[in-house]
Amino acid sequence: MEKLLIKGGSKLSGEINCSGAKNAALPMIAATILSDEDITLRNLPYLQDITTMFELLGSMGANITLDESMNFILSSAKIHDTEARYELVKTMRASILVLGPLVAKFGKARIALPGGCAIGSRPVNFHLDALKKLGANIDLENGYIEASAKKLKGANIHFDGITVTGTENIMMAATLAEGRTVLTNVAMEPEIEDLAELLNAMGAKIQGAGTKEIIIDGVESLKGTSFDIPADRIEAGTYLVAAAVTGGDIKINGISPDRLLSVIDSLKKAGAAIDSGDDFIKLSMKHKPKPVNIETAPFPGFPTDMQAQFSVLNAIADGESFINETVFENRFMHVQELNRMGCDILISGNNANITGVSKLSGAPVMATDLRASASLILAGLCAEGETIVDRIYHIDRGYERIEEKLNYLGANITRLPN
Ligand code: EPU
Repeated sequence: MEKLLIKGGSKLSGEINCSGAKNAALPMIAATILSDEDITLRNLPYLQDITTMFELLGSMGANITLDESMNFILSSAKIHDTEARYELVKTMRASILVLGPLVAKFGKARIALPGGCAIGSRPVNFHLDALKKLGANIDLENGYIEASAKKLKGANIHFDGITVTGTENIMMAATLAEGRTVLTNVAMEPEIEDLAELLNAMGAKIQGAGTKEIIIDGVESLKGTSFDIPADRIEAGTYLVAAAVTGGDIKINGISPDRLLSVIDSLKKAGAAIDSGDDFIKLSMKHKPKPVNIETAPFPGFPTDMQAQFSVLNAIADGESFINETVFENRFMHVQELNRMGCDILISGNNANITGVSKLSGAPVMATDLRASASLILAGLCAEGETIVDRIYHIDRGYERIEEKLNYLGANITRLPN
């Protein structure tokens, strides 16, 4: 297994471009199932999760090609198999995003039921309840979701809990349903708006994405289009924290600060100077961070996907802080590894009490999930000595060329071969 060797102590400086957003790209790839025409996606990030989604669509019969500008052209006209096998679903929970599009377009789908994962049990009951309200029959058999419907019918659906991929799944399904669907208590993450923008460019009739209520008027069919994947706000946020914990000075291009307001606010509370324009964010940190209390929440609250990175910032801050993780029940797996590097973090249920320490020391550590891996790299950047992060396949799922980007900013990271 490849590992990352990090020699700590460099202050990050310079500028980098933000890559396309994984969590915007994954539902968009699933959305291409809804049309028989070609859909071109530009600025797709080069990530393991994107390759897995391609593999999934390819296994169903979709055709994926590259044009001369390295944009991906997806064609679902020849899909002949509507099954998502366990072998793929177990490696990526976002595979569930093909459920809504398959049932809406082909009237059936057989999707392996995703199990729990490193950050929590992560059930899909909200997706299934909502799909039933659109008229689908759902059976759970042999570890698979078997869904069928002659024609989905628009309905008023109130989600019992806020779910990002659940909102996306049902929004996609409703585009081809008969009549009007009104979704309430939906997720408001920017990726929902991005997906609605793509679907509307394909001919869907969606209003209200990005607010608490989404209205979808079903259409007969969707057409082809070309679309740019927007920048990854969590990638940008991670690099901003990397600069903050190393006392650095960086600029990230291509990202709108509107997508990161709660993170920027917390970075300012930590003492960072932030300057931003329509499509860039600059951060400069001249001293040790001040501690910031964090409570994760659905957008526009503080993103759970930035919690692990802020655990590191607080771990080297001047004082005590408190983190309350409200979105996932088991998202502190990074803490045990961070404590091995000298952090002083005490976990009690969904809360972390963090006492800032004067220095971290490099150590061999093990990544457990994507954002946990990012936090270990950030800790390695500000630790004394060498840190080796094992199981970095987690990081390659969601950060494009992370060591290249960080090295470009002055870090000293080497990818060690198997
Ligand atoms: N939940 C249920 N039932 C459901 C769906 C969700 O109980 O049917 C619970 C979950 O167990 C969790 C909470 O609701 O406690 C929120 O889960 P949500 O469904 O919103 O998460 P998701 O859609 O599976 C997406 C991102 C995650 C991100 C979360 C929260 C994608 C592909 N994944 O997951 O991204 O953490 O929203 O913002 O968009 C990551 O990128 O590292 C990552 C994990």
